[in-house]
Amino acid sequence: VIYWIFCFCSLVCLITVAEFAEWLGLMHYMEVLMMITSIEYTAPISDENVTVTDTKFNNVPARLYMPRKQSSGLKRAVIYIHGGGWCVGGSAMEPYDLLSRWTANKLNAVVVSVEYRLAPMYHFPVQFEDVYTVVKFFLQNSVLVQYGVDPNRICISGDSAGGNLAAAVAQQLLDDLEVKVKLKIQALLYPALQTLDLDLPSYKDNENKPILPKSLMVRFWSEYFTTDVSLQEAMASNKHVPAESSHLFRFVNWSNLLPEKFKKDHVYASPIYGSSMLGKKYPGFLDPRAAPLLVEDTKLLGLPVTYVLTCQHDVLRDDGIMYVSRLREVGIEVIHDHIEDAIHGVLMFITSPTDLALGHRVANKYIEWLNINL
Ligand SMILES: *[C@@H]1O[C@H](CO)[C@@H](O)[C@H](O)[C@H]1NC(C)=O
Ligand SMILES: *[C@@H]1O[C@H](CO)[C@@H](O)[C@H](O)[C@H]1NC(C)=O
Repeated sequence: VIYWIFCFCSLVCLITVAEFAEWLGLMHYMEVLMMITSIEYTAPISDENVTVTDTKFNNVPARLYMPRKQSSGLKRAVIYIHGGGWCVGGSAMEPYDLLSRWTANKLNAVVVSVEYRLAPMYHFPVQFEDVYTVVKFFLQNSVLVQYGVDPNRICISGDSAGGNLAAAVAQQLLDDLEVKVKLKIQALLYPALQTLDLDLPSYKDNENKPILPKSLMVRFWSEYFTTDVSLQEAMASNKHVPAESSHLFRFVNWSNLLPEKFKKDHVYASPIYGSSMLGKKYPGFLDPRAAPLLVEDTKLLGLPVTYVLTCQHDVLRDDGIMYVSRLREVGIEVIHDHIEDAIHGVLMFITSPTDLALGHRVANKYIEWLNINL
């Protein structure tokens, strides 16, 4: 209970400060959030197990974790994409840095944590393209040799907005004839996967839950595409999708894609369409590179074995669950870990002052899955 109160208070405080500063005309909301979260940034400090350096892959910054343990043979690799709503966060944030160290140490694997550019300075598709650039560069045989990585044992992983980017990149790689090396597994940790329906049962059940209330998620989504508030307002009332795109709703139809347990007493309502102007001005929100659930089943074929982590008290819960259903329907092997007592961002709670047993338990479970399957 104390942890919930703590999370909630710190979030409310954060949002209040951000709103106040924006109201005063001082700073953009996201800049304020960025400034506050940047307090958690750590330098690239090597320890007894892992050598840590900040580097660049094809001009995109990334933090690289190389295990020190001497071993014969090639190593495994994990490409990690941090969360933060495409607007905040970074690979150097303490919980991300720690998670990458644990992964490198436990798996004796090379970890590449991508430092993609953020909104509001940069909008879609910049975030996607930065991650894609690093992944494509890293997957070249000549580069893998340089880092001693086994081309058959590479994972892409990410949480929240990073899970979104990981899922999108894994899909787009399938059509890229220049990329010969295939990902062995993908791990999607409470990912955001669709922009169409922001009134899913999970959005309704968790509208005001820490650390990601619906209002903040709507803000993150709209900010990914534009700072123009008209998109944010349309998304907040779930009337942003133009009628011309009505065919896409079947990909996020929770009435078919959610198990009964998560539907509870919610009643499926047909979509309400918005103006076609928004779709024309900001086509990104209808693009599967931003919303990986919006692809045909045939585009899911060929995806690697997938781990999906979802949290019960999370607006994004149903995005993850619907992707589990869609992948399983086309025969992709999926391991779904659903954490009943967790809120969004549970893997962030592994450092003081929010160092929780639950965060450690979930992190260990995820890393153990990687260790066995990669
Ligand atoms: C190094 O690895 C060992 C064995 O896994 C672990 O006990 C130790 O805490 C690690 N050191 C650091 C600084 O993480
Ligand atoms: C969603 O699924 C329900 C139940 O199968 C169906 O009645 C409804 O027409 C579907 N809606 C869309 C937009 O696909």
